[in-house]
Amino acid sequence: MTRTFKGYKYSGQAEKYRELDFSAPIHCRLGTVKVGSIFAPLPDFMKTATVIYCDPPCSNVNINTFYTKAEKEKEGDIAAFSRRLIEAIDEIGPREVFLETFKSNVDDMEKALRAIFPFVRRYNTTYYKTHANFILHAAKQESDLPIEGMDEEAIVKYIATSRKDDIIGDPCFGRGIIGMYCTLAGTRFVGQELNKNRLCEFLTFDREGINPFTGKRKDAL
Ligand SMILES: C[S@@+](CC[C@H](N)C(=O)[O-])C[C@H]1O[C@@H](n2cnc3c(N)ncnc32)[C@H](O)[C@@H]1O
Repeated sequence: MTRTFKGYKYSGQAEKYRELDFSAPIHCRLGTVKVGSIFAPLPDFMKTATVIYCDPPCSNVNINTFYTKAEKEKEGDIAAFSRRLIEAIDEIGPREVFLETFKSNVDDMEKALRAIFPFVRRYNTTYYKTHANFILHAAKQESDLPIEGMDEEAIVKYIATSRKDDIIGDPCFGRGIIGMYCTLAGTRFVGQELNKNRLCEFLTFDREGINPFTGKRKDAL
């Protein structure tokens, strides 16, 4: 039975892209993206990432919501998802990782990153400018970044503008905040996303310059 979820089509951009082959990588102005799950083998283009930014599902309730919205059968609980995400990061082998986390998963994710990176730091940050969360920064080199106390969007902008020679990879690409800021900054990116409807919101930014989060034009940083 096909179920339709009112409100889960976001602004309905997927309607425009019916002709696209969503089983294949989609080439954008400065990056490559694909509909796919972290539980599947990584596409080769994802392995070109030198820096990872990711805001992954953080709890069982949260991951269930994303699978419901994607109209897909659940593939694993949050523990299995988080294990697979860390395994995928390890396989990509980036020089640094920015991982958004919450009270519910920060300790587990920090421990998991420490198993594959020599330097891991926890920064106190916010999202939507009001809610507290954390960015875990894992790297091969020790560093002290100017992101303490910053909000998610400003951090994404910081990553996109300060790593111009890198390829920024996001395995949970969503509507593409990192893709949007990378495009505006002239930085290459790669991404994968479970939900076609969410990815299509980004495609309209790539092709028409419409911010997937506000619906307004966004031509500059
Ligand atoms: C918190 S959101 C990230 C939002 C994103 N930063 C953006 O710009 O929209 C988490 C994302 O992970 C995606 N996701 C959930 N399970 C996934 C999986 N197995 N593989 C890939 N992406 C997944 C969700 O659909 C959702 O878009």
